[in-house]
Amino acid sequence: MSSSEKSTRGQAEVPTHDFVRLLEYLKASRGFDFSGYKLSSLIRRVQKRMQQIGVASYADYVDFLEVHPDEFLPLFNTVLINVTGFFRDAEAWEAVRREVLPHILEAKGPEDAIRCWSAGCASGEEAYTLAMILAEALGEHEFRQRVKIYATDADEDALSQARQGSYLEAQIQGLPEELRSRYFEKVGERWVFRTDLRRSLIFGRHDLVQDAAISRLDLLICRNTLMYLNAETQAKVLARFHFALNRGGYLFLGKAETLLSHSNSFRPVDLKSRIFQRAPTSSLHDRMLALTPANAATDGQGASRHVRIRDAAFDSGPMAQITVDRKGHLVLANEQARRLLNLSPGDTGRLLQDLEISYRPVELRSHIETVTASRAGITLKDVAWHPAGGEPRVLEIQIVPLADGVGAFLGVSVSFLDVSIQHQLHRDLERAKQELETAYEELQSANEELETTNEELQSTIEELETTNEELQSANEELETMNEELQSTNDELRIMNDQIQQRSEDLDRVNSHLRSILGSLRAAVVVLNSRLEVEIWSDKAQELWGLRGDEVQGQPFLLLDIGLPVDQLEQPIRSCLDSGPAGTELLLDSINRRGRPVRCQIACTRLGNGTGPAGVILLMEEVPAETGTPPAN
Ligand SMILES: C[S@@+](CC[C@H](N)C(=O)[O-])C[C@H]1O[C@@H](n2cnc3c(N)ncnc32)[C@H](O)[C@@H]1O
Repeated sequence: MSSSEKSTRGQAEVPTHDFVRLLEYLKASRGFDFSGYKLSSLIRRVQKRMQQIGVASYADYVDFLEVHPDEFLPLFNTVLINVTGFFRDAEAWEAVRREVLPHILEAKGPEDAIRCWSAGCASGEEAYTLAMILAEALGEHEFRQRVKIYATDADEDALSQARQGSYLEAQIQGLPEELRSRYFEKVGERWVFRTDLRRSLIFGRHDLVQDAAISRLDLLICRNTLMYLNAETQAKVLARFHFALNRGGYLFLGKAETLLSHSNSFRPVDLKSRIFQRAPTSSLHDRMLALTPANAATDGQGASRHVRIRDAAFDSGPMAQITVDRKGHLVLANEQARRLLNLSPGDTGRLLQDLEISYRPVELRSHIETVTASRAGITLKDVAWHPAGGEPRVLEIQIVPLADGVGAFLGVSVSFLDVSIQHQLHRDLERAKQELETAYEELQSANEELETTNEELQSTIEELETTNEELQSANEELETMNEELQSTNDELRIMNDQIQQRSEDLDRVNSHLRSILGSLRAAVVVLNSRLEVEIWSDKAQELWGLRGDEVQGQPFLLLDIGLPVDQLEQPIRSCLDSGPAGTELLLDSINRRGRPVRCQIACTRLGNGTGPAGVILLMEEVPAETGTPPAN
């Protein structure tokens, strides 16, 4: 692995050029776009696969994929983690059963279809879990009539397992006993989901990042899948989920997932169980605040005590307020208004248009004309104002029409609410909220990262368990083979002992034979039926000068010795063919020292019970004049 690729491990968020090329290659050749996935986990998974097949760099891996198209499958299997289970996070499923299903069913007519989607269903346990709790809630008949559960995944391999709905004992462990016996049938070693209910589930390949969502849903389950995607891609998928759900439809996420950027589109139903409900699209609305209309104005002369009290109350009101009559004169300005807007007592009675406040802090006249024409109040929000020599301020200006007791229009009241502090607080609050959200998002993403790592670990544990089981069974086979070898070994040892015993017996017999042959006066030569030498005694060696090992197996009649073997052929053959009786003859020969000798030869047939096995020749030197063998 090159140094730049090694550094990838340290700075997981910065993909190297070669890693980007690998992702582009996967997209171009298989149409799968991993660019929306969280980099750190994606890099880890790809490297894991590369290590398994001993490829060192991303560039080499692209080459490898080009030459070995079969490699795509194990790569996708490694990257798209398939950890799942029945009733995964049992408490959350209980919350769905308790808080979601009753609402969905209540809102429906008795024959209305119920549409659900398990997105990222892996090997199907999630979809079958949903099927079971729906069948429990509706009864099997209604379930078959009304329910459609779409279950999708990007991983074809996982999907084909999901389609079969067939699970091993170990996979079905999270399932309560009674549900297992009600909804599954035992077929051999496996548990298979009931076929009649299975028809309500529709499995298909669907890529959450690229494909359009399934629509008109009452419940959308997407658990432990969004967390592999980066925040931007999650937001896009969630926007599609919002459109996919019916009004008031439910979204059920994994325990480490939450709606980071879509808090307005979904409202939490059970935050702990990550259950949300589709919110109606929010609309902007302005709220109008109305001021209590003032009673009719006095002409200022002979005002009653009552009127004076009212004027005093107006003057000391907490909010800056002015009144303009229908002819456009400034009629009243309370103390707050005089101070805030720098009005003098002399300004009262003047035309508003002649005063600075008619255009500062905001162009008031057009708004007053609007209120006068419509007889409806308006509020001008967030009016920024920087008074000369003062602090910048933010005002909210409310203009309301004034009418007398019989509804005749008198003028307008203009209130100036100083919202600078609220603004500041709001800004601070927004900032704090933003910081909190960022911190939360970071926490969330760290949590998802942990969860992802956890899933990876789980999948590694599963792989290790499988390897362990395989090792155990290989071990058992080896042990059996070992036992078999051991018993073969024992048998061999016994046979060996027996052979050794026989060999010793044979040695003993041989030495016995040798000593018998040695103690005979005559030389002994034994020929087989083909007249080849089998036994050549020491005396024969002494007589003819050839050693036993030189003549062993040699045709006797071809031996180059001092004996005229050609003269022996006929007597030997007749002895071999015809009779038990031996033949004796005397031959002139040359012994090993080159001395002429007379040799008496006795030829005896050697039988083996069924026929002639050869002949025995006894040869003895006799003195030439006597024709009898010399004494030993
Ligand atoms: C960890 S499993 C979760 C399975 C199940 N939802 C659960 O919580 O038990 C994640 C699944 O998401 C699938 N997945 C990953 N990316 C996907 C995508 N872009 N579109 C659809 N499914 C995807 C994977 O193939 C895998 O089966």
